[in-house]
Amino acid sequence: MTAIGSTTGWQNGLAGEIMRPLADGWTLPASWYSDPAVLKLERERIFAHSWQYVGHVDSVATPGSFLATEVGHVPVVIVCDNDGEVRGFVNVCRHRGHIVAQGSGCRATLQCPYHAWTYGLDGTLRAAPRSEREPGFDADAFSLLPIAVDTWGPFVFANVDPEASPLGETIVGIPELVDASGVDLGSLRLRTRVEWEMPANWKNAVENYLECYHCPTAHPSLAKVVDVDVDSYRLVERELSSSQFGSIRPSVYAEGANVAYVPRGEVEGAQYHFIWPNTTVNIEAGRTNLSVDVTFPTTPGRSKGWTDYYYGADVSDEEAAELLVFSSQVALEDQSLVESVQSGLESGMVPQGRLLLSSEKLLAHFQRLVSAALVGD
Ligand code: FES
Ligand SMILES: [Fe+2]
Repeated sequence: MTAIGSTTGWQNGLAGEIMRPLADGWTLPASWYSDPAVLKLERERIFAHSWQYVGHVDSVATPGSFLATEVGHVPVVIVCDNDGEVRGFVNVCRHRGHIVAQGSGCRATLQCPYHAWTYGLDGTLRAAPRSEREPGFDADAFSLLPIAVDTWGPFVFANVDPEASPLGETIVGIPELVDASGVDLGSLRLRTRVEWEMPANWKNAVENYLECYHCPTAHPSLAKVVDVDVDSYRLVERELSSSQFGSIRPSVYAEGANVAYVPRGEVEGAQYHFIWPNTTVNIEAGRTNLSVDVTFPTTPGRSKGWTDYYYGADVSDEEAAELLVFSSQVALEDQSLVESVQSGLESGMVPQGRLLLSSEKLLAHFQRLVSAALVGD
């Protein structure tokens, strides 16, 4: 819905920074990880037109329930209207821009805390104090701006573009893989949300997720449990998503094995799914579990996001905690990697890196999508 700027990627000079072709394994230019002009374009061309996970359907299950959150840089509010339909709006007051709804809860209307403009659950402006004194004031012209909302199982996604294609077109293939993983989506309960900020460009954080080439060196505890060897760790790319599959090393189950986590449960292998541009869905081997992770930029050099940890209803707190300790260790290691890469990229001394396409093809796929969005190539 945000207007796309009149300059193209070629006209604004960004394309010229790709000196060596991505198709040959060269990375996006290092400058794209700290340039405010790139972030502006990403917001217009990527985040204003893409599906992003926002939360669980239970939080908007009854009429009047609402959830205020963000899709990329855009504040949004997801509501369950009086007919029980889940819909979404840009959570920005049509008066002067205050954020209308805060947090989550259940209300008959959404009232802006600044001057009390009050909106119905259908987004229409129901009351604006003193507006009756304004000749010609047309309340119908100041509804909250609608956005697209869609669901996959218990997961709610939003897209700021109200004309967006259905979510199913973006995530095609992934629901079937998750179904086959041993995780029953209907049994999942949201146990914890972890929010975080990172001094790194959002692409840098996503790219770290998209390859496990670094796993043997940077994640020793993970690499002892999951088979991250190049010939067994599987990478699958689709138009707007990609997946990684890791099986569990048999040695994990040997008596006396010195490993951080011994998976025992319904789920046999790990699956890590990336949904363009900034949502990931992760299943570890063991008891029924699934985490959804969202990353988006706050400034060119910083990003933030959250991870929702779901577990099967019958998974004990101890089992959940054991898995959380294991994945938190990996997350901690990743954080230090991307912070270091950010420093290196910002030095400007290596304007384009060189990927190993056999191991980093999902990262290359992501960079092609970014490039296509920003410079049309
Ligand atoms: S900014 Fe919302 S009522 Fe004034
Ligand atoms: Fe990692």
